Amino acid sequence: MTVSHLLSIADLGAEGIDEVMGLTDSFVEVSARPIPRVPALRGKTVVWLFYEDSTRTRLSFEQAAKRLSADTMNFNVATSSVRKGESLRDTVLTIEAMGVDAIVVRHASAGVPWQIASWIGASVINAGDGWHEHPTQALLDCYTIRKHLGGVSGRRVAIVGDIRHSRVARSNVLAFAALGAEVTLVAPPTLLPPSLTGWPVTVSHDLDDVLGRCDVVYLLRMQRERMTEALLPTLREYTAGYGLTARRVDLLDEKALVMHPGPMNRGVEISAEVADLPRSLVVDQVRNGVAVRMAVLYLLLGSGVAL
Ligand code: CP
Repeated sequence: MTVSHLLSIADLGAEGIDEVMGLTDSFVEVSARPIPRVPALRGKTVVWLFYEDSTRTRLSFEQAAKRLSADTMNFNVATSSVRKGESLRDTVLTIEAMGVDAIVVRHASAGVPWQIASWIGASVINAGDGWHEHPTQALLDCYTIRKHLGGVSGRRVAIVGDIRHSRVARSNVLAFAALGAEVTLVAPPTLLPPSLTGWPVTVSHDLDDVLGRCDVVYLLRMQRERMTEALLPTLREYTAGYGLTARRVDLLDEKALVMHPGPMNRGVEISAEVADLPRSLVVDQVRNGVAVRMAVLYLLLGSGVAL
């Protein structure tokens, strides 16, 4: 399929997600070579525009672009002219004037990637906009489930935790549902979105009840940086009700998988020992993220270039 931007999982639909999964298989093979590099994006330039902190997403996009032989430019908000009051639009137009083919953007405000796409001709990739979407996280999670369980269709996925503030939850629900998974959201009422109208999910407030009938338990971090009010009595009470502890892992089917987008808060939503179990795929998710982001960059910038 032909796409100019990746702003939402809805830009891809099931067909586009499948195409990214297939391309990712190729880039996993490339990544395993002694010299993991192909010339697919030679002559293209990719810039990161991260107005919010990141470890995994920014570094894996950088790794992905380098493995595709693209040139890269790193924009550091803290040392840029944003500190002198330059607007987002002027910043983006300035970067585009230097000659870029793709901007990978993370911003605290929902919708910013759409605004940028309306201002410039380069491709825009949403690397997380506020509470709204994080499409490449959803793609790497689909790829990880497909790799370990053979596919996403028909799998029962429980997404547990701070769904209200989670862009990962929003993109993952769209992606998992598009591929035919059954999604259950598990959270206290205060950590669910105010309305779930139109969400293709069921809801539970009882984690112990859900654990015995899921193939994947997908944990979310408590996003305290986005909370403007007290939504929980204490973190200890949250962990007592919704943390994945060793006792709760015993309720899972022996083949059920544990996933988390990172960064983890060990001891809150996941215990340290559960995070390090073989069934915990947190590190594999990160590994797959590089190949998935190679696939996304190739889909947007490399069409017509042979691998
Ligand atoms: N999962 C994720 O987006 O991690 P970072 O915030 O480290 O990029």
